[in-house]
Amino acid sequence: DWTMAEYRETKVAEIREQVGVGEHGGKVICGLSGGVDSSVAAILIHEAIGDQLTCVFVDHGLLRMNEREQVETLFRDHYNIPLVVVDAEERFMAGLAGVTDPEKKRKFIGGEFIAVFEEEAKKLGGADFLAQGTLYPDVIESVSFTGGPSVTIKSHHNVGGLPERMNMKLVEPLRELFKDEVRELGRELGLNDQFVGRHPFPGPGLAIRIPGEVDKARCDILRKADAIYLEEIRNAGLYDAIWQAFAVLLPVKTVGVMGDHRTYDSVCALRAVTSTDGMTADVYPFDAQFLTNVATRIVNEVKGINRVVYDYTSKPPGTIEWE
Ligand code: XMP
Repeated sequence: DWTMAEYRETKVAEIREQVGVGEHGGKVICGLSGGVDSSVAAILIHEAIGDQLTCVFVDHGLLRMNEREQVETLFRDHYNIPLVVVDAEERFMAGLAGVTDPEKKRKFIGGEFIAVFEEEAKKLGGADFLAQGTLYPDVIESVSFTGGPSVTIKSHHNVGGLPERMNMKLVEPLRELFKDEVRELGRELGLNDQFVGRHPFPGPGLAIRIPGEVDKARCDILRKADAIYLEEIRNAGLYDAIWQAFAVLLPVKTVGVMGDHRTYDSVCALRAVTSTDGMTADVYPFDAQFLTNVATRIVNEVKGINRVVYDYTSKPPGTIEWE
């Protein structure tokens, strides 16, 4: 039996041993996603080896509202961890232009992400180690989210392949932990409940929540609708009871009426599910008044959306994300 405080101490010692400290210490680079796992890994490693660690956060323009600013505040201002933020929105949007096939979107984003990360590592003069927030379930089951081991339903976006290509060794201090233990370790390291309890967010980001072609204007519309939906969920005290909740922007326009004029705008779908591991999921049963209220706010406040629908599909047969 061990406590999280002991785990923290043990891991700090192990990281110092693996990477080395001081004059002969190695350099470590860590890609942040904004999620709990990579954040906890980075904070722990920084505690062990200080500024031998540099974090890289790639802003691909497919993030949620204020996500980049939150990462900057947390890492730069709160933890004082060296952080490089790469503004790659234009290059991702250019590459996504004309792409509508879900797998092509995923492949492009995964490949481009690795390319951007490699370029940044080079600019930093290279590194000896790559840090990753790999968890125990990732170690035992590498296809943890596809819904089946033999068929690729969706290609997973991660930085797999990078360490070999860049000739770097891996630092993975969370390899023995389950998700709930990572959250506990995060709290032990000073992260607040709101941060450690955040819903999962996929690597390809908003691109897989915009069926059809993705562009900046559509990302901006979706970000606004999603933020309103999550604000209402938090205000209703429902956030922690839900595994994942998000808005989806459909490539369908319908007719509506606002005041005394006709509108012709996009449809927004809302998704919310409960789950223990993302492999199966049940629809979250909001009451009708809650959904009516969210729909009203989105249509009134977000230019470009004039209709809101709720997704009642469990997984299986649906997947959690729409692409
Ligand atoms: P699906 O849509 O397959 O998603 O039911 C199951 C869980 O996995 C997340 N997801 C991803 N996470 N990279 C990730 O890191 C991805 O490419 C990816 N695709 C889906 C999804 O948000 C859900 O939690």
